[in-house]
Amino acid sequence: MSLWIYPGTFDPITTGHLDVIRRASKLCGSLIVGVLNNTQKTPVFSTEERIGMIGKCTAGIGNITVEGFEGLLVDYVRQKKADAIIRGVRSFSDFEHEFQMASLNRMLAPDIETVFIMAASDYSFVSSTLLREIASFGGDLSKLAPPQIINEIYERLYKEDSI
Ligand code: PNS
Repeated sequence: MSLWIYPGTFDPITTGHLDVIRRASKLCGSLIVGVLNNTQKTPVFSTEERIGMIGKCTAGIGNITVEGFEGLLVDYVRQKKADAIIRGVRSFSDFEHEFQMASLNRMLAPDIETVFIMAASDYSFVSSTLLREIASFGGDLSKLAPPQIINEIYERLYKEDSI
C-alpha cells in the first residue's frame, strides 16, 4: 500500500489544501500531512496549532495522519519510508517554484518522486497568506478556510481597530 507525504507550512490550512488532501487520499493507501516546524520563519500559528487545525478539518477522512517535521523534506520522507511527495499546483507561478523544489528534491534523493495535483478552479486563487490578510480585516472566509477553523482564525487575526 502506498504511503504519500503532503508537506507544507499550512499557516493555516485552506480549502485548497483540504481539496488536495481529499483527492490525494483517494489515490494512495495512506497520507501523512507533514507540517513544517520551521525555525527560520515565524508562522502565525504554532506547529501544534496548525496540526490541530488540520486534524479538525480531516477528521472524516480515514487514511490520514497529521504530524510535524523538521529539517530536509527528503530526510523526513526517507525516515517514514514513504513512496512519494504530493504537492498542489494552482498557477504558472506556483509551477515555477514547485518545479524548482521538486528538481532539488530529486537531486538530493533521486528515488523519491513528487506527484502534483492541479488545484480545482474553485481554489486556484486561495492561499494562506491572502486568507490571513482577509481575516485580519474581518472579511468573509467561507470560501477560503474550512468551517471548522474559521472562528479560531478570526480569534487570532481579527483586531477590530485594524479597519
Ligand atoms: O506550504 P509551503 O510553505 O509551500 O511548503 C514548503 C515546504 C514545507 C514543502 C518546503 O519549504 C520544504 O520542503 N521545507 C523543508 C526543508 C527542505 O527540504 N527544503 C528544500 C526543499 S527544495
